[in-house]
Amino acid sequence: MRILLWRALWLLCFAVLWRDTEAQLRYTIPEELKEGSVVGNVAKDLGLDLSEISNRKLRIASDSGKQYFSLNLRNGELLVNAIINRETLCGQSASCVLPVQVIIEDPLQFYRVEVDIQDINDNSPSFLSDTKNIDVSETTLTGARFHLEPAQDADVGSNSLRTYALNKNEYFVLHVKNDNDGTKVPEIVLQKALDREKQSIHHLILTGIDGGDPARSGTTQITVKVLDANDNAPAFEQDLYGVKVTENSAPGTIIQRVKAIDLDDGVNSEIEYSLGSLTPEAIKQLFYIDSDTGELTISKSLDYEMSSTYKFDIRARDKGAPVMEGHCRVQVNVLDVNDNAPEITITSSPKPVPEDAPAGTMVALINVKDLDSGVNGNVTLDISPDTPFKLKPTFSNHYALVTDSQLDREKFPRYDIELKASDAGSPPLVSSKLVTVSILDVNDNPPVFSENVYSVYIKENTAPGSILASVTASDLDTGENAKIVYSVLDNTQGVPVSSYVYINSENGSIFSMHSFDYEKMKVFHVIVLAKDHGSPPMSSNTTVHVFISDQNDNAPAVIYPPTSMGSVSHQRMSRSAKAGHLVTKVTAVDADSGHNAWLFYRLAEATDASLVSVNLHTGEVRTKRAVSEHGDSSQRLLIEIKDNGEPIQSTTVTVDILIEEGVHEPISDYSMKSTENNNKKNGKITLYLIISLGTVSLLSVLTLFTLIIYIYIYTHCKKCGVSQNTTIKQCTFLIIHAPLNDGKYGIITLIFT
Ligand SMILES: *[C@@H]1O[C@H](CO)[C@@H](O)[C@H](O)[C@H]1NC(C)=O
Ligand SMILES: *[C@@H]1O[C@H](CO)[C@@H](O)[C@H](O)[C@H]1NC(C)=O
Ligand SMILES: *[C@@H]1O[C@H](CO)[C@@H](O)[C@H](O)[C@H]1NC(C)=O
Repeated sequence: MRILLWRALWLLCFAVLWRDTEAQLRYTIPEELKEGSVVGNVAKDLGLDLSEISNRKLRIASDSGKQYFSLNLRNGELLVNAIINRETLCGQSASCVLPVQVIIEDPLQFYRVEVDIQDINDNSPSFLSDTKNIDVSETTLTGARFHLEPAQDADVGSNSLRTYALNKNEYFVLHVKNDNDGTKVPEIVLQKALDREKQSIHHLILTGIDGGDPARSGTTQITVKVLDANDNAPAFEQDLYGVKVTENSAPGTIIQRVKAIDLDDGVNSEIEYSLGSLTPEAIKQLFYIDSDTGELTISKSLDYEMSSTYKFDIRARDKGAPVMEGHCRVQVNVLDVNDNAPEITITSSPKPVPEDAPAGTMVALINVKDLDSGVNGNVTLDISPDTPFKLKPTFSNHYALVTDSQLDREKFPRYDIELKASDAGSPPLVSSKLVTVSILDVNDNPPVFSENVYSVYIKENTAPGSILASVTASDLDTGENAKIVYSVLDNTQGVPVSSYVYINSENGSIFSMHSFDYEKMKVFHVIVLAKDHGSPPMSSNTTVHVFISDQNDNAPAVIYPPTSMGSVSHQRMSRSAKAGHLVTKVTAVDADSGHNAWLFYRLAEATDASLVSVNLHTGEVRTKRAVSEHGDSSQRLLIEIKDNGEPIQSTTVTVDILIEEGVHEPISDYSMKSTENNNKKNGKITLYLIISLGTVSLLSVLTLFTLIIYIYIYTHCKKCGVSQNTTIKQCTFLIIHAPLNDGKYGIITLIFT
């Protein structure tokens, strides 16, 4: 507006002044000259001397307020005073002339100078805005045109806008339309289908180019925003998700986050997740997917042993119209956890084993199993140590329980074997089972007597049928093998023991069958056999030494002095016998022994007790004093002999002593007694020797005689022989003959025959 106003004013002034001027000058300068640039020499062109310049006061005046020019007063050159911008002064008009009034005084003259301002290309084309946004649907068809603002260029003519250029791109091309008024209007034309998902924004640069030389240009940035259409289905990041979940994971555990991407924009890319429409109900109960986040969780704990894998589809749907959807597949692998303890099964229950079973005898069959897999299900079976059993693996997870060494029921009648199965999981799970194996008895132990040798002492004369001794044997075996029968073994020679004792076969009590007489038998031995009922039976024996102890069952028997006519013994004694004279000596014996046979002699009664005494131990009867001249010629003594037994047994002997006159005993005093006794004894021995020799001689004669008879009979018998018609005479020979064959005893037999 201002430019236009100035221009109007100028034209007005110019018209007024024009009439008063005679000549006019015209200069042509380009715009934008520097200050001080010479436009032209006004003085010279007006024909003025240099002196006139100052004398006539040459000066210039401008119509407008602004002085674009100045005058050099020394040489009269018109100079550019201020930079002249054509566009400011004249706008788009094709010509631009600045009038300058030149004034000279004396005389006053006006000259009109026109300075034609030539356009130079000092303005670039420009757009109203630097940026321009265009929204284009990605479904827009090719060929569609989009109108753009034309560029402006302040310059005129050839310096004004001449053409447009668009940066090279594959989607849009430039088309310039010439409007009716000659304005060049740029348009962009879609030449290739858009894809927002490929490129949602296209940046284009439109350049307006003028016709100057050099040309100037101006640009605007065009932003083409591609609007979304729901032309993309959601796509999962992975077609297949492999998920590993340990069994027994808590319900609610997120096992996977699936993600689908929808290349579209806005609601077209908003995704809802769900399980595939054909998912079985069972899987729907186990798995849950969050429709917004795509988090896959488990609704229940998974059990590896029930199923180790699950496969299903997940669907992603966008919210565009129409709805588009995508799918992916999920494979859930359940990882085993050691949550099952091994199980021990006794497939064949243990049988009782005889104790003599050889090592390796099978006792039971055992089976282990573990529902877990891999190492968690790898079970090892162990047996409690210190048992004579071992496990023998048969085939996978089957074992035979066999004996490992010799058994002995007497030490261990049964075994409680602990079987322990443990898997290789971490931590391992363990289970155990108790197997009881009983050991059967075998008759491997003989009965054993409580003592090696029994010694018993019995009194003689005990009643038959009383218990002599009781032996007991025990047998470590059991049942029939331990049932013992006692018996008495007969000795091979002599009187069989079984004839005087018998044994209770069940309890081992030995009974007597007789009463025993110590005086006949002092000791005997019973061999007792204990035999069990096993098969084969086992036995052992022991010896019972039975010692018979003496009882005082025998009264003393008087062997001297000999008694005739009852129990009276007659002794003689001389009246002249002095004190201490040995009248007689009573000698008794007792069949018992020990103190039962210790004898004591005592004078029980006497005609004159003051005359004789009896030695308590020796039984010697001696006079205590000399016999009185007129005393009785006959003395009767009753001597009692007692033993030391319990009860005491005694006997008596009556000795009659006849006191004779004048009979002189050769030994009358005690000191000579033993010599006399010795002599008497020697005499007796001599007598006995004579008798013996006589007897032997007689026997020899008899033997000789018999031999002669024998030889006679023998030869006679040889001659006649023994025929069937044996006569009594011959028979006599035969009877005599038979014992003769038996040797020397035959002789005696012959004699007696
Ligand atoms: C089980 O354990 C044994 C001994 O440790 C080993 O030899 C075997 O290979 C294992 N088996 C499995 C299936 O792991
Ligand atoms: C053995 O048995 C007999 C007869 O039954 C009995 O008299 C005896 O006292 C028993 N012996 C023992 C030691 O029990
Ligand atoms: C008694 O036992 C011993 C071994 O203790 C044996 O030598 C003997 O033959 C047995 N006697 C009998 C008669 O069985």
